[in-house]
Amino acid sequence: MKRIILTIKLFLVSVLFSSLAAAAGGGYPLDEANVDPSDQASLQRGAKYYQNFCAGCHATQYQRYERVADDLGIPHDLMMENLVLDKSAKIGNLMHNSMDPKEAKVWFGAAPPDLTLVSRVKGGPDWLYTYLRTFYEDPSRPYGVNNKVFPDVGMPHVLLELQGVQIDNCGDTDPTARDPLTGDKICGLTIDPERKGSMTSAEYDQMAYDLTNFLAYSAEPMQEQRKQLGIYVFLFLAVFLVFAYLLKREFWKDVH
Ligand code: HEC
Repeated sequence: MKRIILTIKLFLVSVLFSSLAAAAGGGYPLDEANVDPSDQASLQRGAKYYQNFCAGCHATQYQRYERVADDLGIPHDLMMENLVLDKSAKIGNLMHNSMDPKEAKVWFGAAPPDLTLVSRVKGGPDWLYTYLRTFYEDPSRPYGVNNKVFPDVGMPHVLLELQGVQIDNCGDTDPTARDPLTGDKICGLTIDPERKGSMTSAEYDQMAYDLTNFLAYSAEPMQEQRKQLGIYVFLFLAVFLVFAYLLKREFWKDVH
């Protein structure tokens, strides 16, 4: 009887999780990002790409330049010279952005949201990684592009020059392929060989990964310390266990 109840529970939990995952990705399968907050080289590249390609529209205003520089091992002068667009800003400033949200709404249909926490609010780093890689050509959209995990997105594909133009050959690749949950066709994206970008797809994926890694760091800058602290806590508990056991033996010695 217990086993049956356990099986039912496991089933319900797995249904819940798979529907949550589907809701987050709009049914499109998400690629795993496997972010690594200890990979400083990747985080530094991510910060560089972020400041060059994203910070013009998006703020990360819950984060300071100084903290990013210190956490990522970037000297303050290099940070100010290369990674801070606003030349009047000081190293201790929050990473604001000068775009007027009202004007942005007119240009893009939606103001670019703050990205400090984006890797946590939208389906996690996997969602973000997939988002950056699944812009595809769609002439019906104002900027000529759409996105697989953010349908009808207002953001233009700002990395188009690097990635090249992706086409959605929905139905052409395997017309019978369907998502088991939603029943939607699974479509394949391929780069148009006539309109390639300046990066190979492996290089582009690496860049999308670095950007995702950086934004995942930004959403939880303490992550590395938290994990290390966790190890110390367990070590302490292990040592403490020995003393607790010895003490227990001492207390109970006369009772037994
Ligand atoms: C030209 C301005 C512009 C640039 C540059 C830009 N974005 Fe955006 N972005 C937008 C707009 C506008 C939206 C809102 C789209 C909407 O809601 O339809 C958006 C939305 C997003 C979202 C979805 C956030 C959410 O919570 O809905 C993410 C993630 C994102 N951008 C990441 C990036 C990254 C990473 C870069 C740099 C590679 C970047 N953006 C560069 C304009 C921009």
